[in-house]
Amino acid sequence: MPVQGGSVLLEPVERDDVLHLLRMRRRRECAEQHDADAEHQDKDQCDDEEQLTHPPSLAVIGNDVLTFTVMARNNARSESAHATSARPRSLTFSRSIVLVGMMGAGKTSIGRRLAARLGLPFRDADSEIELAAGLTVPELFARYGEPHFRAGERRVIRRLLDGPPLVLATGGGAFMDDVTRAAIRARGVSVWLRCALPVLLRRVALRTSRPLLAGGDPAEILRRLMAVRHPVYAEADVVVDCSDEPPEITTDKVARAVEAWSPPHILPVRLASTRYDVVVGEGLLARAGALLAPVLPQKRCVVVTDTTVAALHLATLLDGLAQTGVTAAVIAVPPGEASKSLDSFGRVIDALLGASVERHTTVVALGGGVVGDLAGFAAATALRGLPFVQVPTTLLAQVDSSVGGKTGINTARGKNLVGAFHQPRMVLADTATLATLPLREKRAGYAEIVKAGLIGDLGLYQWCETNGRAVVADDRAAQAEAVLRACAFKAEVVGDDEREERPNDGRALLNLGHTFGHAIEAELGYGGAVLHGEAVAIGLGLAFQLSAKLGLCDPAVAERVIGHVASVGLPSELAMLNRRFSASRLVELMRRDKKMRDGRLHFVLARGIGAAFTSADVPPEAVTELLREAGAEA
Ligand SMILES: NC(=O)c1ccc[n+]([C@@H]2O[C@H](COP(=O)([O-])OP(=O)(O)OC[C@H]3O[C@@H](n4cnc5c(N)ncnc54)[C@H](O)[C@@H]3O)[C@@H](O)[C@H]2O)c1
Repeated sequence: MPVQGGSVLLEPVERDDVLHLLRMRRRRECAEQHDADAEHQDKDQCDDEEQLTHPPSLAVIGNDVLTFTVMARNNARSESAHATSARPRSLTFSRSIVLVGMMGAGKTSIGRRLAARLGLPFRDADSEIELAAGLTVPELFARYGEPHFRAGERRVIRRLLDGPPLVLATGGGAFMDDVTRAAIRARGVSVWLRCALPVLLRRVALRTSRPLLAGGDPAEILRRLMAVRHPVYAEADVVVDCSDEPPEITTDKVARAVEAWSPPHILPVRLASTRYDVVVGEGLLARAGALLAPVLPQKRCVVVTDTTVAALHLATLLDGLAQTGVTAAVIAVPPGEASKSLDSFGRVIDALLGASVERHTTVVALGGGVVGDLAGFAAATALRGLPFVQVPTTLLAQVDSSVGGKTGINTARGKNLVGAFHQPRMVLADTATLATLPLREKRAGYAEIVKAGLIGDLGLYQWCETNGRAVVADDRAAQAEAVLRACAFKAEVVGDDEREERPNDGRALLNLGHTFGHAIEAELGYGGAVLHGEAVAIGLGLAFQLSAKLGLCDPAVAERVIGHVASVGLPSELAMLNRRFSASRLVELMRRDKKMRDGRLHFVLARGIGAAFTSADVPPEAVTELLREAGAEA
């Protein structure tokens, strides 16, 4: 007996007999019974009848589907030409396809057709629940109430998704449940069949029994339901607009959209204090609301950006957030390193408080490393810490600064001297934003990828030697791979030493080239004469030359590094900056850098490519001599 002591056991039972009986009962209910919850009339037969009564002559409108790279062979077009034959396909889907949407959207009828087309089994979640419980959904609601029903629904959907791939139609309320939604997110590809109100109204009007809608103005009731549900349905992976078209056409659209979908790359960052995902892909800003949904504690955030990035990418981000009902205030600072100042920090804090942020309001950093560092530090300190998300838009920020949780600002005494560790809840690296990034900035960001390889990933460095030019030349696939590889390397280093506390090596290794680089930046000022990544690029060569000078590595290795840095158009040597430098002044600036410990200069040196280590034993005279050899004056 599937029902015991007031709770509902939802386990698989012998299907066919029970299913037949339930269908008979369901038919009767569709016609007669007054159901308190309209969505549960969105059942198989009702749905089919509805779809088949659509006037087939109406034009197909809207095809607002996501275009990701192809996951499987696209059979949608050829199949539609032979739609009536509906031969099962041998497509290999690794995930189940889960249809969500309002009552009357056609989840069951489209789901059944889609399953036939793709050669996958079809299940209707509500029918499965009824099967398992031996009661109809209205009976379950009446006898045990909605919480019991939802608990059973969670178990049934989870069980179905744990099995082999299938097409699953869900009740209109299923995707509204946080746990069910998380299960679908983890195991399936969710498809929202989005219908405009007039379409739904026409469909439900064709039904003989719509008790909930009969209890008031159907348009008003549907409008209210849609206002609540659409922002949640918008979290679906794929959105397909449906109209008064015949179901075969909708099925065709869904099949094409699903076959064209592939998930963004996800790199988990696991730290002692927390864990989060770096999500990498193309077009992520437009999906920001859906992608960030699992980590936003409140449907409210403040976007911190700079005015250059705002003009290019803010509207897309705000639109993406709005789709899932996330509202956003915006704080825009001037572009450039000068915004990483105490003054600017004060203004951002004031604006955050002026926007009445609460402890659950998320700060979203949209921009390069400057915005990420500044917004992150503001998030770390406002109200003693606000949730924080990084949406990096420079290559440098995507491959390096957005990951690891270092935030901070500069003071007159040096770079990044005031700051905090504050990990983001997610990093959304949309490689499409790099299309607007000036070439010089792309090259500067590239230096941090090379750095990662040089520190401890020979494979990454060799990959750079082959693919570096493609990365700076806007090859999107190369960029995505570079972001993933560099972030994976950084995540591993940071995971081992989150707060840079290890006396040797650990996170400090990420400073390869930075002791020199920061001194060059400090000397030339932060007005754009040299970019951070350019200074690091020169610093990488100097770090390897210093290692060679100290007898730690072959001078040919230093030449190889300098040669590669130059090959992508980066300045690779001090002399290329066409400025006069004083060696003693640069060493003095290095002493002010926060990498000083016990009054001694700390460097990251290398025994070869991918074999870096930290050292506090570098004689200052060797550094001065090297800088003179590199063209600096005394
Ligand atoms: N926190 C860390 O771990 C870490 C690591 C490395 C570097 N950093 C910091 O990062 C900063 C450098 O970051 P950055 O190189 O990204 O500089 P940035 O943030 O100043 O951006 C560079 C320029 O590009 C513009 N820009 C950004 N995205 C754009 C886009 N998609 N299209 C067109 N223009 C765009 C910006 O407006 C700016 O003018 C430095 O302050 C450095 O100290 C921090």
